[in-house]
Amino acid sequence: MRLRVQPATRWTGILSVPGDKSISHRALLFAALADGISELQGWLPAADCEATLRCVRALGVQVERPAQDHLVVHGSGLKGLQPAPEPLDCGGSGTTMRLLMGILAGFPFPSVLVGNPQLSRRPMERVARPLRQMGGEVITTEGHAPVRVRGGSLRGIRYELPIASAQAKSAVLLAGLYADRPTTVIEPAPSRDHTERLLGSMGVSIQRDGNSITIGPAERLFPLSLVIPGDPSSAAFLIAAALLIPGSAVQIPGILLNPTRLGWVEAWQAMGAPIQVIPEGEAGGEPVGRLHATAATHLQAIEIAGAMVPRMIDEFPIFAVIATQAEGVTQVRDAAELRVKESDRIAALAMELRRMGARIEEHPDGFTIYGPTPLRGAVVHSHGDHRLAMALAVAGLIAHGETIVEDTACIADSFPGFVEAMQALGAEIEPV
Ligand code: S3P
Repeated sequence: MRLRVQPATRWTGILSVPGDKSISHRALLFAALADGISELQGWLPAADCEATLRCVRALGVQVERPAQDHLVVHGSGLKGLQPAPEPLDCGGSGTTMRLLMGILAGFPFPSVLVGNPQLSRRPMERVARPLRQMGGEVITTEGHAPVRVRGGSLRGIRYELPIASAQAKSAVLLAGLYADRPTTVIEPAPSRDHTERLLGSMGVSIQRDGNSITIGPAERLFPLSLVIPGDPSSAAFLIAAALLIPGSAVQIPGILLNPTRLGWVEAWQAMGAPIQVIPEGEAGGEPVGRLHATAATHLQAIEIAGAMVPRMIDEFPIFAVIATQAEGVTQVRDAAELRVKESDRIAALAMELRRMGARIEEHPDGFTIYGPTPLRGAVVHSHGDHRLAMALAVAGLIAHGETIVEDTACIADSFPGFVEAMQALGAEIEPV
């Protein structure tokens, strides 16, 4: 699939975005382990989360689906998963594979986790290593999928994560549910904390002290009744377009406002972006509210490094598009993790944004953008990466002339309805 994008003349409206991807994965996985029936509304029906649903069902958990975004999960209890008859297919979803590795380390039967070629290039030792220290048998294929896991009696450990990865942290915490004593994970900088919040709301003993999180072994998880808020990482594309298109005004209600996910809002505000965050309440232990943005009159370049990086880790592709329109030199450092996402986001961004006229330099752990530069319409490629595809489509809205984004089926990995959302706000965008 390819998308044709024309320069935007209007960008206005009030629009919701689909449910948060990170919380959708976790809510389903944890509900599968709960005692009793969980109700999940606002579940994200995207390819990545569908992979989690497939795996959970393959492990013997009954899940009803009254609507596309509504799941009723008959929890099997903490010890109740059944061996899957075939390898568990995680598709392209890193969250599915890494969180399942942690859970399956608690079960004595053998499991095999496989993924598509894109996922099979991503590093899995970062999860396998601590699980082995806990006593699980975890075998990767030269550091990658397929991954074989056989668990059983685990020991609680104290583990210093070498990288700020919420997936690696979550896998160790989940294995900690099955350990003989408390497990402590120390992260180099805070990453998204949905696992901690959700498990806490299900009755698990879990505490944070600075950058260290301690989880106690659990007897049971209480079931969930959850309305999953909108995904801020999806909203970021629509907000970015608002900043860049003259005369725009966009409101997005019902968005997750967890501070570990809103680094991008703070960074863009510091650049001069008129974004308002309006808290509205809480859902499942998470703050929820409305985002409001209008066109920016002036955007100033910024430097991003250190603890800010994990707080906006998924927003660098769209951030790079904004940086092309900011005055001065934008620098991103300490972000080598971008090289092991759905694509090598540093190399792919540099290659594709250059085709549109951006001045961007690549570094081992980040990039430099010199702005502002006018963008020109071009034929660009997503590299099979949903967030790159959407960032390039937004770039097309502010480019001179027509832009074609190639290989855009991947957008369904996280934001089903992206094209319709763009059209509703005024974009001329269509599949060709
Ligand atoms: C996620 C964590 C992040 C993020 C990914 C979702 C999660 O990955 O990039 O999109 O749900 O835990 P890492 O843990 O690899 O940083």
